[in-house]
Amino acid sequence: MKILVTGGAGFLGSHLCERLLGDGHEVICLDNFFTGRKANVEHLIGRRGFELIRHDVIDPFKVEVDQIYNLACPASPPHYQFNPIKTIKTSVMGAINCLGLAKRVRARIFQASTSEVYGDPEEHPQREAYWGHVNPIGARSCYDEGKRCAETLFFDYHRENGVDIRVVRIFNTYGPRMLPDDGRVVSNFIVQAIRGEDLTVYGEGAQTRSFCYVDDLIEGFVRFMAQDATVGPLNIGNPGEFTMIELAELVLKKVGGKSRITHKPLPPDDPKQRQPDITLARKHLGWEPRVPLEDGIERTIAYFRKVLQAN
Ligand SMILES: NC(=O)c1ccc[n+]([C@@H]2O[C@H](COP(=O)([O-])OP(=O)(O)OC[C@H]3O[C@@H](n4cnc5c(N)ncnc54)[C@H](O)[C@@H]3O)[C@@H](O)[C@H]2O)c1
Repeated sequence: MKILVTGGAGFLGSHLCERLLGDGHEVICLDNFFTGRKANVEHLIGRRGFELIRHDVIDPFKVEVDQIYNLACPASPPHYQFNPIKTIKTSVMGAINCLGLAKRVRARIFQASTSEVYGDPEEHPQREAYWGHVNPIGARSCYDEGKRCAETLFFDYHRENGVDIRVVRIFNTYGPRMLPDDGRVVSNFIVQAIRGEDLTVYGEGAQTRSFCYVDDLIEGFVRFMAQDATVGPLNIGNPGEFTMIELAELVLKKVGGKSRITHKPLPPDDPKQRQPDITLARKHLGWEPRVPLEDGIERTIAYFRKVLQAN
C-alpha cells in the first residue's frame, strides 16, 4: 500500500514510518518540523518507497494514498502551549484536511487521539465509554479540546460520508527519539540523571501514569488499521501504573550517579492518575503491551546517552 503519515518525522511518526516501510509499504512522511526532526528519519531517506515532504497540515494537500495516519500535532505541554492557537488549528484544520483527502481518495484514515480527552478523570481506569472531565478554557485546553474536536470530526465524516476511520486514544508512550527537552516525564528524568542533575518531581510525586514502550504502541496501531471489527475510539497503552516517585527511583537505579529527587509545585490541571482499560484492544486486536518498564527504560537511557554525548 501507499501510506501517508502526517507528523512522520516526530517521535512516534518516525517509528511508524520505519515499521510500515519494513512491512513493504510505500510511505509518504509529511511534517512541518515543528517538533519533528529530519534526523529521526535520516536513515529512511533514500530507501526505496520513502518520500519526505515539508508541509503544514493546516494547509490542504493532495496525494494518492491507500491509508492515512494523522499524527501531526505537538504532543508535550511546553510544545503545545508554545503557540496554543496554532496547536488547536493543527488538530482541527489538520483533521479536516486529512479527512477531506481520505474522502476523496477513499483511504482508510487513522487519528492519533489521546488519553487527554479524558482530562482529570473521575473514572479509573479509563474505558472508551467514559466522556471525560476536561477544562475547556485552561492552559492545556488547546491540546485536549483540539483532540476532542478532531474525534468529533472523524466520527461525523464517518457517519455523514462513510469515511473509513480508526480513532486511537494513546496513553503516555516513551522510547528512543523523544526530544531531550520536551518536558515529558520519562525524558526529563533520564536526561536529568545522565547530566547528574537532580530529578524534578512535581507535587508529592504520588500522581500515577502508565507508560507504554513505543514498539508496543506501533504494533497496536498497525493491528488496529488491519482489522474491521471496530473503528474506535480504542485505548492503546500500558495499564501498568507507577507513581512519579517510583519512576524517578527506577531511573536513578538504572542510570547510577549522584542525582537526587527534588520537588516543585504541581502545574495546573495536571491529572492525578491515568490508566488505560485495554479490554477492547485485547478483544479486537489480540494486543497487549509486551515490553516491561525496566527494559524500555534501559533502551531509552541507551538512546539518550548517545544523543547527549554527541551534543
Ligand atoms: N507520545 C505520546 O505519549 C502521545 C500520547 C498521546 C497522543 N499522542 C499523539 O501522537 C502524535 C505524535 O506524538 P509524538 O509523541 O510523536 O509527538 P512529536 O511532537 O514528536 O510528533 C508530532 C509531529 O507532528 C509534527 N507537526 C506538528 N504540527 C504540525 C503541522 N501543523 N503540520 C505538520 N506537521 C506538524 C511535528 O513536527 C512532529 O514531527 C500526536 O498527534 C500526539 O498528540 C502522543
